[in-house]
Amino acid sequence: MVKIVVVGSANIDLTIEVDRWPQPGETVFGNSLHFAPGGKGANQAVAAARLGAAVTFVACVGEDAYANDVINNLKANAVFTDYVYKLVGEVTGTAHITLAENDNSIIVIKGANDKMTESIIDLAISAIKEADIVMVQQEIPLNAVTYLVTLCHNLGVPVLLNPAPIQNTSQDTLNQATFLTPNEHEVLALFSNKNIDSMLKLYPNKLIITEGAEGAYYNDGKSIQKIPTFPVKVIDTTGAGDTFNAAFAVAIAEKQSMANSIRFANAAAAISVQSLGAQAGMPKREAVERLLRNE
Ligand code: RIB
Repeated sequence: MVKIVVVGSANIDLTIEVDRWPQPGETVFGNSLHFAPGGKGANQAVAAARLGAAVTFVACVGEDAYANDVINNLKANAVFTDYVYKLVGEVTGTAHITLAENDNSIIVIKGANDKMTESIIDLAISAIKEADIVMVQQEIPLNAVTYLVTLCHNLGVPVLLNPAPIQNTSQDTLNQATFLTPNEHEVLALFSNKNIDSMLKLYPNKLIITEGAEGAYYNDGKSIQKIPTFPVKVIDTTGAGDTFNAAFAVAIAEKQSMANSIRFANAAAAISVQSLGAQAGMPKREAVERLLRNE
């Protein structure tokens, strides 16, 4: 069983389904409201655990009722939660998600996620040293992201940086990360050079650009490779990127090739979009393997 440490955010997602986007100043009736655990960090931790990794999660939640929902859900998914801290006087992060016209929009209230610090990361140093791979996203302060990536780089522990949402990530941090997984929008904000092919060439076997239903691109050291995704009926794409990242991390930690790891990640993400909510559709290993066998 590979060991993965995820450092990142934990949210409660409040998802509204509505037929069409309201105009500014307009009031419309929605169809439904769902509450469910989310947050890019927690989503990636849960997805990796469902795929068979031993996952340690490092995060901050508030001292409200949502904190217990977050922690109970992580435990129910076999994620190790001793480094999930309930911070006094803070609220748990929330994400306010609208699903309309086959798309989504998300507003995140960071809450306790914004209190992640270098010292909180240091508390998990023994787990980080033993990890096969560490994963981090950008829903926590950029200082903490930078510190973690440098720490892993110095320790020789592979680190996957999922640069979402976009922050002003430094070139050093991008260089020190072992894997970078922006989507097609994030990659343009991340690098001053806007030529995607030259970016892929600069970071062979490291930069993976995800393009939703189009699949994912990387450079294998010789040429650009496109790994296509699986055609499925999409219900909700929230958390699909998180599932992709977690599945890729699991496969690469298991020493699968880049191409096979991305294929595994595409399959996991394709399954995840067939249910409502970030984590509801995240698959177990057997389901991913069945899809890869084309059953
Ligand atoms: O990546 C999806 C996640 O982004 C949601 O679960 C939501 O919490 C936001 O953080």
